[in-house]
Amino acid sequence: MPVKLNSNYVKSYINNNELVAIKPQIEAAHQTLMNKNGLGNDFLGWVNLPSDYDKEEFSRIKEAAKKIQSKADVLIVIGIGGSYLGARAAIELLKSPFYNNLKKETPDIYFVGNNISPTYLNEILSICEGRDIAVNVISKSGTTTEPALAFRIFKDLLEKKYGKEEAKERIFATTDKSKGTLKNLSDSEGYETFVIPDDIGGRFSVLTAVGLLPIAVAGCDIDAVMQGARDAQLAFAENDDNNDCYTYAALRNILYRKNKSVEMLVTYDPSFTLMTEWFKQLFGESEGKDNKGIFPTAATFSTDLHSLGQFIQDGSKIIFETVVDIKKPKQDLFLEEDKENLDGLNFLTNQNMSVVNRKALEGTILAHTEGGIPNIVLEVDEIDEKNFGYMVYFFEKACAVSAYMLGVNPFDQPGVESYKKNMFALLGKPGYEAQKAELEAKLK
Ligand code: PA5
Repeated sequence: MPVKLNSNYVKSYINNNELVAIKPQIEAAHQTLMNKNGLGNDFLGWVNLPSDYDKEEFSRIKEAAKKIQSKADVLIVIGIGGSYLGARAAIELLKSPFYNNLKKETPDIYFVGNNISPTYLNEILSICEGRDIAVNVISKSGTTTEPALAFRIFKDLLEKKYGKEEAKERIFATTDKSKGTLKNLSDSEGYETFVIPDDIGGRFSVLTAVGLLPIAVAGCDIDAVMQGARDAQLAFAENDDNNDCYTYAALRNILYRKNKSVEMLVTYDPSFTLMTEWFKQLFGESEGKDNKGIFPTAATFSTDLHSLGQFIQDGSKIIFETVVDIKKPKQDLFLEEDKENLDGLNFLTNQNMSVVNRKALEGTILAHTEGGIPNIVLEVDEIDEKNFGYMVYFFEKACAVSAYMLGVNPFDQPGVESYKKNMFALLGKPGYEAQKAELEAKLK
């Protein structure tokens, strides 16, 4: 199993009776998931669609990726939230956090439309100067302000640089199959489009064109990604005692009921840091509803042991940690002995650096567990495309089951609308006139 749950370090917080007592709840959540839309659990990306994923669209993604690789030095990926984070996390994890600085055959990839900072956008525009550009704009609704605004700017840039005809060869849109502003605009301009299937929400869309096109442009093997997800689908299909995905959901739920209301996803490899951002997005937007939910946060150790480590060890006991333990790093570094040993570090030498990282992990798990912080450990063999697909599926399914166990719908996000309404009103969007006056009065 590429991802294996190790529950040794939560055992002192959760007893067997509690694990038995929660079984009916897991079964109910499992059934809800299986019956969703009457189609089976077709929500986790293409792997779960009843008719399998769209093979024609999948090969078009590969073709588009090749075209982008041959035409562009820089790919600009425009999207926000679930519609961009998975791809960004995949590229950092599978390639490198320094992907753009590596010597490589594939284009640099920058992500915009995920904030409204003019400084950020200006900096990326200047990086693009004198370079050949392609754009992948991603929005399911097609109306989200941040990506729509960034796309307006890059569309204009490409049309000025290449002319309208060539610009349309360099713009790829991933959006709804038939409706929305982006779909209409793409059809009228003649862009190649990729579909975000109806049943798949933004944060569950990494394993569709949303994630797969940028991931393929970076030179990752998307067949292997899908194979890993398929393997996980089979491994976690049944609700039985061997289903680590459901056991993880159950442990989270029991800990939450014991007032452990913050889950910290911990990694010991900075290339996994963006995956922890994706995790926060996935669980935060799916579970945090009706005044319920575990607050998802994350840390990269040992970096954050020198800051958050203090709070975790000695602060209020509201946290549990889920540690992603990658057994084999992508690269290792042999530490040579130094004859003079002026820095006193010879006790660390004549071994690989990964051993030092492992001892940090083991020592921290013991210290935190003894300090009142339950640790769930997810053991991952190694990092490759297959295991990435497997992990994505694992977390997505665990998230959906967890939300149903809490009694909330994992697939909507009503809370996100409130800030948007206020922002539109304050910006004077037609139709929001009454709210504008009301909000401005509050701001005085
Ligand atoms: O997971 C989600 O549903 C959200 O994070 C969306 O992906 C995000 O709000 C962007 O939405 P859209 O793709 O419609 O622009």
